[in-house]
Amino acid sequence: MRLSEARVVLTGASGGIGLAIAEALCSHGAQVLAVSRHQEPLLALKAQYPHLLRWAQADLTTAEGRQHVLMQAQAMGNVNLLINAAGVNHFAMLEHLPGREIDAMLGINLSAPIQLTSIMLPVLRQANAAMVVNVGSTFGSIGYAGYATYCASKFALRGFSEALRRELADTRIGVLYVAPRATRTAMNSPAARALNTALKSNEDDPKTVAAAVVSAIVGNQRELYLGWPERFFVRLNGLLPTVVDRGLRKHLPLIRRLSSTPDEEKIKP
Ligand SMILES: NC(=O)c1ccc[n+]([C@@H]2O[C@H](COP(=O)([O-])OP(=O)(O)OC[C@H]3O[C@@H](n4cnc5c(N)ncnc54)[C@H](OP(=O)(O)O)[C@@H]3O)[C@@H](O)[C@H]2O)c1
Repeated sequence: MRLSEARVVLTGASGGIGLAIAEALCSHGAQVLAVSRHQEPLLALKAQYPHLLRWAQADLTTAEGRQHVLMQAQAMGNVNLLINAAGVNHFAMLEHLPGREIDAMLGINLSAPIQLTSIMLPVLRQANAAMVVNVGSTFGSIGYAGYATYCASKFALRGFSEALRRELADTRIGVLYVAPRATRTAMNSPAARALNTALKSNEDDPKTVAAAVVSAIVGNQRELYLGWPERFFVRLNGLLPTVVDRGLRKHLPLIRRLSSTPDEEKIKP
């Protein structure tokens, strides 16, 4: 897809990765309908690209919010790219995770992109070439302690992406599933960041992720897994999950401790 011809609905546009994607798209001449509940993080970009970037306020967990996005997309016209990047994460062992956090993760990470894609398909069908991009995670392929519900939502999003790609195989709509590894954004709590630091996990800059996503869109790719050795572990987990079981078990005491320590204590020097 040529970015100068892209007319994009982008959710999660006020977040670390979404904002970087919005910036990358606008810098290539794409028109972007940025969707989020908060507008402040987008104001500078809106000032830089007043003719390319517009904003739709929507809580994507509600049917009204998603209908509002559809109406704004129809008003923009000729939308040919839907990027589902909105997401939430809460690092905690399942027994310590409040029920409302479980609902929130499944709602915004899984139900919202499925529902939004469903109502956007008639719009995308009208384009000569269109694409749905679903932002998953390395944790959509590797189950990780402390992230059981988040992993469930991203595994399911990966399954949705694969099935939808096959469902749309005889149309002009492609489906790209993107799996970033840990990325430096506000999504990761102090506890999650403390775990990444302790395990010396790689963390990408959101701009790196955005550049890779944009290049995958231009190349009409079907999947994008970011980072080495994360790509290797995804493969290993698929082939030899018990090897990964053993490796991750060693981290369990650390994960248990960090996920249950109040955040204020973790950020103390
Ligand atoms: N950061 C990482 O380490 C990492 C790694 C792998 C994958 N990912 C995935 O990448 C995507 C973007 O993550 P990020 O790191 O950029 O997160 P982030 O900085 O926390 O941004 C989250 C975005 O989701 C939006 N959002 C949350 N709840 C919403 C709701 N109910 N309705 C509408 N929008 C909502 C937020 O907008 P408002 O609050 O303004 O509504 C914000 O734009 C997510 O799908 C995440 O799972 C992130």
